[in-house]
Formats: sequence, C-alpha cells, structure tokens
Amino acid sequence: MPVTKFSVPEKYAYLEGIGSYHQSEALTGANPVGANSPQVPPYALSTERISGSSFTAPRAGNLQTWLYRVHPSLAHGEFSPVSTSETAPELQLSPNALRWNDFPIEAGQDWVSSQKMIAKAGDPSTKTGLAYHVYSASKNMDPQTILYSTDGDLLIIPQAGTLDIQTELGSLLVRQNEIAVIPRGIRYRVTLPNGPARGYTCELYQGHFQLPELGPIGSCSLANVRDFQVPTARFEGSVENGVATCQTSNWTVITKFAGRLYSCTQDHTPFDVAAWHGTYYPFKYDLGRFSVIGSILYDHPDPSIFTVLTAPSHREPGTAVVDFAIFPPRWQVMEDTYRPPYFHRNIMSEFAGVIINNQDQNSMWNKGTEFKPFGALFNNSMVPHGMDKKTHEEARTAELKPEKVGMEGFMVFLLESEAMMAVSAWAMQAKGTAGTNAKSIGAILTDKAKL
Ligand SMILES: [Fe+2]
Repeated sequence: MPVTKFSVPEKYAYLEGIGSYHQSEALTGANPVGANSPQVPPYALSTERISGSSFTAPRAGNLQTWLYRVHPSLAHGEFSPVSTSETAPELQLSPNALRWNDFPIEAGQDWVSSQKMIAKAGDPSTKTGLAYHVYSASKNMDPQTILYSTDGDLLIIPQAGTLDIQTELGSLLVRQNEIAVIPRGIRYRVTLPNGPARGYTCELYQGHFQLPELGPIGSCSLANVRDFQVPTARFEGSVENGVATCQTSNWTVITKFAGRLYSCTQDHTPFDVAAWHGTYYPFKYDLGRFSVIGSILYDHPDPSIFTVLTAPSHREPGTAVVDFAIFPPRWQVMEDTYRPPYFHRNIMSEFAGVIINNQDQNSMWNKGTEFKPFGALFNNSMVPHGMDKKTHEEARTAELKPEKVGMEGFMVFLLESEAMMAVSAWAMQAKGTAGTNAKSIGAILTDKAKL
C-alpha cells in the first residue's frame, strides 16, 4: 500500500481533502446553521473570523474560517518583545555552492527557541519572499504557551522525530515522512510525544501553499487532493446549563511579527473553539502517498513532476515563490539516457535536504555510520551543480536496465525558489567545504546513493 508504515500510531481524527470547504464540531450543533454570525450562537459562544486572504480574493483562493469560541482572541494583554529574540540576523549573499554535513545542535531547546534561520529573501512586513529554518527540539514548549506567526504560512518538514501540534482548529500528529502547514495567524502549541525532533521549516511571507496545477498529467497523481488531512475541532471546556465555558487559567501568547518574537498573557485557554467552518485551516500529508510519475522511454521530464506543494508567484506565470518537491524511491527505466540529474544552472535557487523515512529512529540518527542524515545543499541562482566525477563516470558506462533508485531509509526534498536567497551568518559558519568541487547530495550521504 502506498502509505507510510508509521512506528508512532495515529491518535487523532481528521477531515480528508485540501481546498475544500470544511466544517467541524467538538460540541454537537455548535456551528450555526445558515447565518455565520447569529445574535447569540449555539452554546452562547462568540463568533470570530480569521481571514487568510482579502475578502474579495477570487473564490479559488479565498481563505476564510469562522470560529465559535468561548473567548474571542482579542482578550489578551499587551505584547512586549521577547528579550532572547533575534531582531535581524546577519545575512550574506553568496555565489558559491554551499554544503552542510550537519547543523550544530543546541541541547535543551523547544520548538520556539530551537529555530535557526538558514536563508531568507524578501521581507515579511511587505509580504514578499520567504525564509528557511532548521529546528532541533528536545523538550515540549512551555506549559500553557502558544505561538502564532504573523509573518507567514509555515511548511514543516520533519527530518526525524514526531511533533504533536495542537492548533485552535484541532490537533495534528506529524511524524517522520509527513509534512504539515500551519497558516499565518493560527495559534498552536508543539509537544514531543516520542523524544527529540529535528527538521526544517519554510516560512512563506507571500501568498499560500497550494497543490500544483497538473496540465497534461490530468486530474490526479503527484500529491492527490484527498490525501491531505485537516484537524477536527477540539474543545477544552465544558457546558453548563447550555452555555459553553472554560475555567480561568494563565496562558502566554507568543507571536512572530516581522521576524521578531513578542509575548503577552491571557487568562483563558486558546483552545476554546467548539466549532469552525471555512477554507483556512492547517493540514498534514503523508509523503508515502505521493504518486510518482516519470519517463517511460527516454530522457528526463523536468523535476517539477516531483512537486508536492507550491506557492505561486504573481510576478511571472508559472513561477513559484517556492516549490516543495520530494524524490521518493521509484523505478528508472529510460533507454539511452544519462539517468542521474543532468548538470544544471538554474534561475531558481535550490535548497536540498534529507528526510529520514525509516521509522526505526535508532537505526539512522543515533548510530555513528558513514551516513550523514543531516546534510544539506544550497545552490543559489545560477550556481552550477550536478553529479560528482565518480557518479558521472559510472552513469556514462552503466548497463541501463530497470532499477529502483532512492535508498531505503531516507528521501531527499527540494525547496526551489524564484528568489536569490541570502544565507544567515549562523548557517555560513556551520557549513562544510564548498566551491566548484562541491559534491552532490548523493555523495554527501553515501557514495552508493542514487537520486
Ligand atoms: Fe538543479
């Protein structure tokens, strides 16, 4: 079956499908019928709307959700800057191929404090561009603390470990070989039900993630619509005499606002949403369900056939602020074809890293083997890249027969952006050797790897 055999069992129920109008109730009948904003909603809840697009956006991209909750979100104290928050990381644009064998890990960090910027373009205050981060959390977020990003949608790409993400709209369990998207403004809390977790995030300052158009491919394949999973409403309160209520409790709210963290307090749980309906919601996706397509006679189709999610740019048709692509194990059968990726210079910038899809965590990231599971590559706009000499020569002399490529246990992902991205001083310091002899990511992982 084309699904991942997860070692961590699922614990939540989901709605199925992306791009649909969804609705969910933790209390039966909490969504009002017909009217969105009745004088008094069921259970005497308050009506709140979160708009992820302008009111007048075309229907296909109109993202709005109605929430029915005990306390509206405005009931909180005044935000002040978090003292440990980085204000403006030093950034450097480099024409070199950059490579990391690993990223330095700081022990004892949580989801918020472990985030380190790798690269950035644009500015969240003008809603342009994006940023990549690496996270390495080994403890839960502080109790009764939530986070939301004002800056953009967050694509989470776990590399290893499991995240339990409780959002206002319900919970997502995100395991190795799954990804998740938390839209801008949605409040959430991350805990680690299965030990430490590492991975990458792509913070999208501009627009939203969506499925790529399929063109001549037709109406299905790649990431199929129905395989995306959306949380169901989860209400932390009770009903007394027909009125929904929550006990008073002290919470900290953290927001990322123009790259800096601010916090405030409130006297009630943010997880007091009894029902919601709309088109603006978090979701997750099992990368094991990706329906791979490819060449069945000769040559390479463009690697855009591996795109899972895209964030279209409005500057030029067919161009993306960022494409998120994966290279799962698959068959290669092409005749008279140089089968590895060809040597390439690209107007788009390419950041590649590794997802460990082997569900036996200990086998991959606690053993001191030649395998470098946390390596990454960044080829900025027009930086030449391709196979190392040995792989190149092997590819030119190999007997061409059908073969399964992609190593067991891991999968390479690619973030491809229209932007020329600047790399943070932290990431520049952490990188390994680079330059014209920079190896392919296959060579970094192991010289036996094939992409
Ligand atoms: Fe490339």
